[in-house]
Amino acid sequence: MSDYQPRDFFADLSVVTDPYPHFDELRSRCPVHPARHPGVMEVTGYDEAVEIYRDTDAFSSCNSLGGPFPGLPVEVEGDDADALIEQYRGLMPMSEFLVTMDGADHSASRGLLRRLLTPNRLKANEEAMWDIANRHLDEFIANGTCELIRDYVGSFSNEVIADLLGVPDEDRPEFREQLDQGKSLPSVEDGEKVLSHNPLEYLHGRFAAYVEDRRAAPREDVLTQLATATYPDGTLPEVDEIVRTSTFLFAAGGDTTGRLITAALRIVAENPDIQAALRADRSLIPMFIEEVLRLESPTMSDFRMARKTTEVGGVRIPAGTSVMIHPGAANRDPRRFPDPAELRIDRPNVREHIAFGRGNHSCPGGPLARVEAKVTLECFLDRTADIRISEAHHGPADAREFTYEPLYILRGLAELHLEFTPAG
Ligand code: HEM
Repeated sequence: MSDYQPRDFFADLSVVTDPYPHFDELRSRCPVHPARHPGVMEVTGYDEAVEIYRDTDAFSSCNSLGGPFPGLPVEVEGDDADALIEQYRGLMPMSEFLVTMDGADHSASRGLLRRLLTPNRLKANEEAMWDIANRHLDEFIANGTCELIRDYVGSFSNEVIADLLGVPDEDRPEFREQLDQGKSLPSVEDGEKVLSHNPLEYLHGRFAAYVEDRRAAPREDVLTQLATATYPDGTLPEVDEIVRTSTFLFAAGGDTTGRLITAALRIVAENPDIQAALRADRSLIPMFIEEVLRLESPTMSDFRMARKTTEVGGVRIPAGTSVMIHPGAANRDPRRFPDPAELRIDRPNVREHIAFGRGNHSCPGGPLARVEAKVTLECFLDRTADIRISEAHHGPADAREFTYEPLYILRGLAELHLEFTPAG
């Protein structure tokens, strides 16, 4: 019996900074391996991750965002945890959002979302995105420097989602002020307008008011379409359900897309040859983005709970186990992607990556995230003659220092300082 003890993914900060040696070590021992933390299995293999994502009979999404915290409050006895999962799912973080739902509840919410993210809406949103990106760049491009997260990604993705959902232009500055990351806002009372510290609370209040207003007095606008969207069976959802579905898009789509954009620009700034290739041939950008999604998957851990004792990759998973899928590990599985640590824009099967998950919870925002990253790269390349990493902040090329946020669910830089020569 091996006495190997994996590093503690929930407590060891060095794993967050560079999880890939840990992933490789675990995968080489077994793609489905017990974690250091009790009652958790880590999944680092591609086939095994896809199998778990697809098997909704054996795995519940109830813990998809919290993993083992808090987990079930009682020990599972026997090989079936279904009844306990149903009894305690309300205790799991974000249990009111579709990402943690299963079965018919999930299908109904997902169906509603499909009615909000129509192809026409996404197309109009893409057109608006160029303007949103360029307005953000106007704020700092002439300086020749920026801290990308503070100056761009923190508010760009949120503004894109505000546009997608039809937030009126006059309300956008307040949204930006409330949702900007890294800026702490004082709680102020301004006439009837109360700015709160909690962005989700703020969003909930705003969207509840929009939906009620548009239901009472429909107009020719996107918010009216949102307010009157129906479930696939034709029934009208409660106001609260529409509000939850809308506000969750900010939570699900802002931070993740920001991390993709940051990873992409770090690679562009770090590698003059890649930057030159993208400048010379913009048609390479979409494949470059896929390869960044594979190589630097923003979702680092995604969880499932075993409904019943089951087996994956020859490993027994007892009922009630928290299964921690690492999309970024699966996306570097050499059995699926040869020389997985290398960035190859021409990798033939790059689109098989699972940065957006798989199966019936797979990310409905994938197309939007891809366009946000593409528009951002195009605008940065258009408006600069070169883009570099700031040595003053991150050190020289042979000794870079980057700080990653200490999170086990998402992976991304805490800061990215760039320098550039504005285009003439
Ligand atoms: C690079 C950016 C993004 C990444 C890496 C990402 C990743 C993911 C992953 C891995 C899942 C699956 C979760 C699971 O199966 O447990 C997911 C679900 C989800 N994502 Fe994204 N996402 C991104 C952008 C977005 C955007 C822009 C939106 C919205 C506009 C969005 C909305 C959602 C929603 C609503 C779900 C839940 C779907 C369901 O449970 O059926 N995401 N995302």
